[in-house]
Amino acid sequence: MSVSLAHTDTTDYSASALMATFEIHDEDLVRLKDQVFLVTGAASGIGLGTVKLLLEKDAYVVAGDLSEMPLQHDRLTFVNTNVTSWADLSSIFKVAKTKYGKIDHVFANAGISGRTTYLDEQVDENGDLLEPNHLVYDINLKGAVNTCALAIHHMRRQGAGGSIVLTASASSFQRFRAVDYTTAKHGVLGFMRGITPLLQPSIPIRVNCIAPSWTTTGLVPEGFIEKTTGVGTQTPNVVARSVAILMADAGRNGQLIYSVEGKYSEAEGTLLKAAADIVGDVNEDVVMAKLLQAMSGYGVSAEQEGS
Ligand SMILES: NC(=O)c1ccc[n+]([C@@H]2O[C@H](COP(=O)([O-])OP(=O)(O)OC[C@H]3O[C@@H](n4cnc5c(N)ncnc54)[C@H](O)[C@@H]3O)[C@@H](O)[C@H]2O)c1
Repeated sequence: MSVSLAHTDTTDYSASALMATFEIHDEDLVRLKDQVFLVTGAASGIGLGTVKLLLEKDAYVVAGDLSEMPLQHDRLTFVNTNVTSWADLSSIFKVAKTKYGKIDHVFANAGISGRTTYLDEQVDENGDLLEPNHLVYDINLKGAVNTCALAIHHMRRQGAGGSIVLTASASSFQRFRAVDYTTAKHGVLGFMRGITPLLQPSIPIRVNCIAPSWTTTGLVPEGFIEKTTGVGTQTPNVVARSVAILMADAGRNGQLIYSVEGKYSEAEGTLLKAAADIVGDVNEDVVMAKLLQAMSGYGVSAEQEGS
């Protein structure tokens, strides 16, 4: 099967849409009832908050984490999962598919904090620089991308398709001195930007990201940020609602919901508008789509080109 070459930037660039805050109401989430969700990094923080919210909405959840879930529920299935292991990820998807026959939504969320600044040099006995610690890329980026690859594999084979939400971060689009973490989170946003033009409208899978600011979780102890910096935080439940609305609202695709101190805004429209102002007529994706179209005339498919 070859990929869609359609240029599908459906971003709303209207002034009213750009960075306007919005509210998420309970009635916006009722369509999550009885839907099947797969969540990674589900045992703590934002993942756990999302699992709790989904269960409140009468959804079915297949939850993966290195740690056991701190709650039990007849609609919750836990599968011990390390997102750095392809075998583990394949197996949690199989559990969900076998148990429910479909997977409607996937939340690729597992993550850890930064491991290196690249200035904290580790050397061997000869004084030669050792390779830096890349665990953050393995979990926060490669783990998330592999989760999405499996989600797409399963969802494209089910008539109704599905939706995916990735946990990006406010550090996906600004300077942030946790270097490896920031690099990985830019990559997560980059993955969404790369994959969305290949999916809709021919493959009915929506992909969106969340970009939480400081949220009290296992990574951010309660009270610490406020006491140390004066900056306010938010609870995982606030962020969970941004995940849920991206899944519940079939009109959302390629969006990045930023949440800070309990306020929500869609950031991707503003970011892409800035990019469009810079590049003018030379939109890279439009050029790529035309190149692939032209090459298909020479018998070269998009997939053969590895695009
Ligand atoms: N807390 C914040 O302020 C904040 C802000 C922006 C983004 N995030 C992101 O939110 C996501 C969730 O983090 P959190 O803040 O809720 O932290 P958390 O530590 O409370 O939760 C992370 C969960 O991921 C799990 N996990 C870690 N490595 C894993 C692996 N290899 N395989 C499977 N599960 C693994 C942990 O066991 C834990 O349950 C992460 O991607 C993080 O980068 C957090």
